[in-house]
Amino acid sequence: MDIYGILRKEHQEVISLIEKQVLDIKAGRSDAGLVERIQKVYFIHMGAEEKFFYPLLEDREDMYVRVITSYEEHHTAKEILKNIRNMMTDDGRRLARLRFAKELIENHIEAEEKIFRMAEKILNKDAAQEISRRFLEERELLLDTS
Ligand SMILES: [Fe+2]
Ligand SMILES: [Fe+2]
Repeated sequence: MDIYGILRKEHQEVISLIEKQVLDIKAGRSDAGLVERIQKVYFIHMGAEEKFFYPLLEDREDMYVRVITSYEEHHTAKEILKNIRNMMTDDGRRLARLRFAKELIENHIEAEEKIFRMAEKILNKDAAQEISRRFLEERELLLDTS
């Protein structure tokens, strides 16, 4: 799978995890483990994008604004996802925050799709391959140690 396939798959994964958590709360179930998984998966995803993917694009004039906007969107998503675990006793507030997080992340994913399409033209196959390798290596390391 190339880097774009990996990132798209992770986007789907995080949205499904949030949807599952929303359904669980509505059904009266609280799952701190699932909340933790959402944070872990998406924080690692964003961190790896910022480390291996965005730096190859951000110096280009035609990409600069899109990429720095993405950093800002990551920052906001991290802030929103933080502390959800502390809200485990308040279903209403947790649901509101999760729904807001989902909307924010979906908008970011949509914007990132445009970045992917541009990147596919800019980065050659070897560069894309190298990002995949480093991305997966980092992901594995962080999933193991966190
Ligand atoms: Fe992403
Ligand atoms: Fe992203």
